[in-house]
Amino acid sequence: MARQISAPRGTRDLLPEEGAAWSRMEAIARDLSDRYAFDRVDTPLFERVELFARGLGESSDAVEKEMFRVSGASGSEEERAEWALRPEPTAGIVRAFVEHGMHVRPGPLRLWMLGPMFRYDRPQAGRYRQFAQWDVEVLGDPGPMVDAELIELAHRFLAEAGIQDAVAYLNSIGDETCRPGYRQALIEYFGQHEDRLTDDSRRRLQVNPLRVLDDRLLDRELAGGAPRSIDHLCDACREHFNAVLRLLDGLGLRYEIDPSIVRGLDYYTRTTFEFFVAGRRGQQQALAGGGRYDGLAELLGGRATPGIGFGLGIDRAMIAAAEAGATTGPGTLVAVVSADPDVLEPRLRVANELRAAGLRVRPDGSSRKLGRQLEAASKLGARWAVIVGEELDQGNVVLRDLSAGEQRELPLGEVAAAIGSG
Ligand code: HAM
Repeated sequence: MARQISAPRGTRDLLPEEGAAWSRMEAIARDLSDRYAFDRVDTPLFERVELFARGLGESSDAVEKEMFRVSGASGSEEERAEWALRPEPTAGIVRAFVEHGMHVRPGPLRLWMLGPMFRYDRPQAGRYRQFAQWDVEVLGDPGPMVDAELIELAHRFLAEAGIQDAVAYLNSIGDETCRPGYRQALIEYFGQHEDRLTDDSRRRLQVNPLRVLDDRLLDRELAGGAPRSIDHLCDACREHFNAVLRLLDGLGLRYEIDPSIVRGLDYYTRTTFEFFVAGRRGQQQALAGGGRYDGLAELLGGRATPGIGFGLGIDRAMIAAAEAGATTGPGTLVAVVSADPDVLEPRLRVANELRAAGLRVRPDGSSRKLGRQLEAASKLGARWAVIVGEELDQGNVVLRDLSAGEQRELPLGEVAAAIGSG
């Protein structure tokens, strides 16, 4: 036998038994995007490295360590240096916003996307090299209400997915007015403890001291004593943050203020947040994360446009939902069988009529004995079998309840209703 080939490390195959749960996550994302009046966009899976370097920051882990470089089959070294698989969607969406002059549209713009992201990170449980995000972004809205609206939306998704005990951890990391003072405070603080920093952090300290705070190997005690951005906010940022908190209080949402939520990407300003299952705050356990990025559009060559959004990890949400006991199966399965091996086209016709009535239907095209077909249907998880025979000339079929072992003849048009009530 030929040697088997396995999936790349850090990737997951979605197996048939997981398909329904995955589809349910996607369905919730689509439904909420629609109900919250977001419009769908899609951007390429790969972009110029420069987009991520400028948007996410040269010294972010996503750019410095986790970039998946790509090139064509004949790609030159130069091309290889140029493109990368997207590690996240926000930079691409804002690039598209700028490129298509979307600022002239009636705004604020509310955009959503669902798709795979790629980070060349060390794989672990819950941390993959390819993972999917549901992402929402609002462009052109500076006010605090939309911050609260988005936090509520992430909460809503998790609750609808069956994860009832998700908590939002919030912070504000200031803007161009107060950030310089905060950076200085961090440089001074960590500068006094350089011997306790990792090589990475020592290098990043002068360029971007905020990145020291999301160093996974940062000494906990040192992190705990570090200056907090919320103590360095300017009046406008403080007022914005307080307004967001008041709105969340008004909505009765569960949140905690957590000064350690600085996020790993440079584009953030003001409100930042992450969602975790209460009491489970590991590195790879965030279910969603996001925040404001009021300077990103300008950084990417567009007009100054405030922005805010979040990404929710579909893989992690699916795992957390399963752990919370949310069960998802596909719709009730109906098998279409017949004792007559020549009755093939009627099986298909009956199957189509039942599908048109909204049922999930699987016709058996074999010439096995009827008993064997019914047995096979049960093994496949069918709850009902529709037996096609001579009665079809009168428009009737036999409906068999496979778990009770009872059956009766009825008009084909009444099968869906009979199944619905049985
Ligand atoms: P992020 O926090 O890097 O933010 O990712 C958002 C979510 O994607 C995480 O909370 C997590 O659920 C999931 N995720 C991230 N990395 C992995 C991984 N390696 N394996 C599995 N799941 C993962 C962003 O990407 C920002 N673009 C969010 C945003 C939108 N900010 C503003 N707008």
